[in-house]
Amino acid sequence: MTKLTTESYKGVRDFYPEDQAVQNYIFKVLREVSESFGYVEYGASILEPAELYRAKSGDEIVNEQTYTFTDRGEREVTLRPEMTPTVARMVAAKKRELSFPLRWYSIPNLFRYERPQKGRLREHWQLNVDLFGLEGIEADADVISVAYNILRKFGLKENQFEIKINSRKLLDEEAKELGLDESKKKELRLLIDKKNKMEVDEFNQKLKEIAGETFSLKTEASGEVLEVIEMLKKSGITNVIFDSSIVRGFDYYTGIVFEVFDTNPENRRAILGGGRYDDLLTIFGGEKVPAVGFGFGDVMIREVLESYDLLPTYTSTTDLCIIPFNKNCFEHTSSLAMTLRKAGLAVVVDYSGKKVADGFKKADKDKIPFALVVGEEEISSGEYKIKELKTTTETKLKAEEIASFVKHLTI
Ligand code: HAM
Repeated sequence: MTKLTTESYKGVRDFYPEDQAVQNYIFKVLREVSESFGYVEYGASILEPAELYRAKSGDEIVNEQTYTFTDRGEREVTLRPEMTPTVARMVAAKKRELSFPLRWYSIPNLFRYERPQKGRLREHWQLNVDLFGLEGIEADADVISVAYNILRKFGLKENQFEIKINSRKLLDEEAKELGLDESKKKELRLLIDKKNKMEVDEFNQKLKEIAGETFSLKTEASGEVLEVIEMLKKSGITNVIFDSSIVRGFDYYTGIVFEVFDTNPENRRAILGGGRYDDLLTIFGGEKVPAVGFGFGDVMIREVLESYDLLPTYTSTTDLCIIPFNKNCFEHTSSLAMTLRKAGLAVVVDYSGKKVADGFKKADKDKIPFALVVGEEEISSGEYKIKELKTTTETKLKAEEIASFVKHLTI
């Protein structure tokens, strides 16, 4: 028999408990900050009809990066590569019942058939923060503020990241002046979107081929870009700069577009990206609904936080391990464990039958902060010696004192 591989599928991750704890920490911060701005959580299935992405996402995603298959009923199905079409579909479906403006967030897992590399995988989780129903730039500033505050909450300083902003409208105006048609305009946008992945000479050459000799990227902000920068500045966010090379790959953006970068030059990928997409909901036949939002992936932020040493050290979610001295003590141990669980502690019982010293060692290796032994003496006296494994300090306590003692020290 050939042995099966234990490796995961290419470009996806297994989350062993210590990795899962990091993921949970990241999600906790994403949720807390999004909710602190009044965004509420929604969810949806991973599966979508393939046609949802053909309408407006962009050729690269649809033709080269989606996982699409035909189901048993001959329907074409795609594993969602992004959340924006899904949330647009959900909002369009209930437009009459929903009360606008909507502030929604979600942390879906997304699938893209990419070449796995640093910061890019085939499955990632992505916070999506979107605001529907407001046309003014206050909405753009609101979502950018959420992104900024998430990064600050993770412990990043203002000089460790930079918010780069532009508007599709500026490029549209230039394209109009140059007399470029829709397909040339799109070609130009896709080229600019890939600017950082090419050599300067190659980029300039291609730029000339598409837009002519006179075209050059703007270096000064104007119009709504300037207004958003000013508005953010007034709220204390000063690491925002205009960058005309930020155009974003997706077809659906219509106005402000932005990406956030680590200021460490070795890390050149965007941590997050988003923008305004006022026309997307019209693909479902209804009227326009102004919308703006961003996507923030778990892969890049994890790498960034690791590089700045900002990830919390791992401790188990289990507070206490109880080690019965021998089999005769099992019954008392499990009833003590149950009492302590009712009092709010997470308690594991070591039924391995190994020596007490081994029980302490394993609890410590598992990063459980406290352990205690139940033997004949403890059963008769009703007093237990709680050991804090990090310091090895022991404290003698009655059963009813244990929960508050442990909680006090773990918070
Ligand atoms: P996106 O720029 O494709 O935008 O993705 C947003 C973020 O998700 C990226 O900046 C990156 O952090 C992360 N990301 C994307 N692809 C991968 C990957 N293959 N591996 C790891 N991380 C990845 C969107 O998806 C838009 N739908 C965002 C949006 C929401 N716009 C408006 N609302």
